[in-house]
Amino acid sequence: MTEIEAGAGTAGSSPKVESGRVPLRVAVLISGSGSNLQALIDAQRAGRLSAEIAVVISNRSDAYGLERARRALIPTQVLSHRGFPSREAYDAELAALLDRHAPGLVTLAGFMRILTPELVARWQGRMLNIHPSLLPKYRGLHTHERALAAGEPIHGATVHFVTPELDDGPAIVQAQVPVHPDDDAERLAARVLTQEHRIYPLAVRWIAEGRLALGDDGLAYLDDEPLAQPVVIDAEP
Ligand code: GRF
Repeated sequence: MTEIEAGAGTAGSSPKVESGRVPLRVAVLISGSGSNLQALIDAQRAGRLSAEIAVVISNRSDAYGLERARRALIPTQVLSHRGFPSREAYDAELAALLDRHAPGLVTLAGFMRILTPELVARWQGRMLNIHPSLLPKYRGLHTHERALAAGEPIHGATVHFVTPELDDGPAIVQAQVPVHPDDDAERLAARVLTQEHRIYPLAVRWIAEGRLALGDDGLAYLDDEPLAQPVVIDAEP
């Protein structure tokens, strides 16, 4: 099992603190609004998440999430993808940047880039993503439009471990959202996003508490039990 220890560095070199754990260092990767980043900041401030957001990295300099990070006095880095000759070259630079901040966990929070298998492998078991659908349904983009077109009665969001296949890693926690008859993609997306803000801090908290890990068998383990199904958070009424 890939153990995730609060405070572990990328090379596993950070000292393990036996009493009074070192807070987990979290890197948050964004490309846009950063409302999920804000949910992590808010959870931390409210005492619901004992973790340190060590750095916020964006591939876009105009991402509003950078402003949220600055207001919270979190270090920010912009690593634009423009000018890199290849995805591999960009991800190598991103890997080096992450290493400099030595997070124990990398969270993708609306980071609109497909990662190379090399980068994912490097962060195996220590990288989470949040996706706006009830995976395995609707991987990829335009999830709300697709759920509406299919006439889904229930839609939602999923936090999962990142594996090389896009939106395919073991699911950890889902929030279900009923689809209303008068929903359009925008309204549905807004209600799903509200639920995302509940489940992402929860999953990061489980990691920070040492309760959640990715097993060598490819399953997510919560409290040493394999998750045959993701934990499902109650649907809103
Ligand atoms: C969220 O819907 C998330 O599920 C998806 O990208 C969006 C990011 O929103 N991966 P925000 O930037 O956190 O507001």
